[in-house]
Amino acid sequence: MIKIGNIQLPDFPLLLAPMEDVSDPPFRAVCKDNGAHLMYTEFISSEGLIRDAIKSKKKLDIFDYEKPVGVQIFGGDEDSLALAAKIVDATNPDILDINYGCPVKKVAMRGAGAGVLKDLPLMIRLTDAVVKSTTLPVTVKTRLGWDEDTKNIEEVAERLQDVGIQALAIHGRTRVQMYKGSANWELIAKVKENPRIRIPVFGNGDIDSPQKAVEYKNKYGVDGIMIGRAAIGYPWIFNEISHYVKTGEILPAPTVEERVAVCKKHLIKSFEWKGPVVGINEMRRHYTNYLKGLPNIKEYRGKLVTLKEVDEILEVLDDIVIHYSGYEFEKTPIELINYHEKCPV
Ligand SMILES: Cc1cc2nc3c(=O)[nH]c(=O)nc-3n(C[C@H](O)[C@H](O)[C@H](O)COP(=O)(O)O)c2cc1C
Repeated sequence: MIKIGNIQLPDFPLLLAPMEDVSDPPFRAVCKDNGAHLMYTEFISSEGLIRDAIKSKKKLDIFDYEKPVGVQIFGGDEDSLALAAKIVDATNPDILDINYGCPVKKVAMRGAGAGVLKDLPLMIRLTDAVVKSTTLPVTVKTRLGWDEDTKNIEEVAERLQDVGIQALAIHGRTRVQMYKGSANWELIAKVKENPRIRIPVFGNGDIDSPQKAVEYKNKYGVDGIMIGRAAIGYPWIFNEISHYVKTGEILPAPTVEERVAVCKKHLIKSFEWKGPVVGINEMRRHYTNYLKGLPNIKEYRGKLVTLKEVDEILEVLDDIVIHYSGYEFEKTPIELINYHEKCPV
């Protein structure tokens, strides 16, 4: 069993990664149903929380059925982060996570997210400020370092543990890499192998199948795996990995009934949580993923992305089940999209 503060997780837990515009409550609901053991919110700006910005506050919504959940915050100022930590505390999540990994320019170049990797003393001051201002277990998610020449994760891990964090998730890339190349788990393994490190170490980066998860579990010895992109449109990845870890068997691909049921739940939760207009609009980017592999789906998809009433969309989804009932999906590899391809470094 893995423990983060008083939070008990099963052996080799599978974590849903924090993902801006993705890991919101509707998406977390379907990941929870499909076996995610610990989930994180999208990152939340500490400055936004302090200013009472609606978007930041809304990201603090957590529902009992999805627990345990970690709230992730970012920022480059001690006082703001400490204050934000107090605000998060009051909303009663299970974990408070600090983001020292976000590579996008508007965050990293303003001394937050992965930008903090360039200034270890600042990272320690920020973390200390957060640990001291919350009663929640504090965790950190970060990258290997800023660039190829400054991969300081081993030192970062020790220093963060010393200042009181209770788990560490490491994305096996540097900030400069963004999403290029493949994640390097060798250094993650080194952190885990360090006899001084007592806190759980979770590996992150490029896990897209049960086979790869188990291969990396055995090869790199991490305490658990955090999954991001592979879960988008394919939340079954969590149960598939757990099943493979336990039995060595690959589960069959989800049926059309299962795909549509998950898609419907995602839609209904989006509708309820975001409201009818935004909920329906933002759901449109998910249909392609849920229905991937179905032949000649274009016409149905066209309806799904243009209809404006939830009942009409649900009807189309029911029609899809009837039309494709019994269709045998091929088990195709999950495609991991380079989300920050166009982000100027
Ligand atoms: C759309 C998107 C949004 C992301 N937003 C966040 C975020 O808010 N906080 C964070 O720590 N990482 C964020 N990440 C990084 C992921 O948590 C994860 O580290 C990365 O995708 C690598 O894992 P993967 O290969 O399993 O996707 C984001 C990634 C994507 C694709």
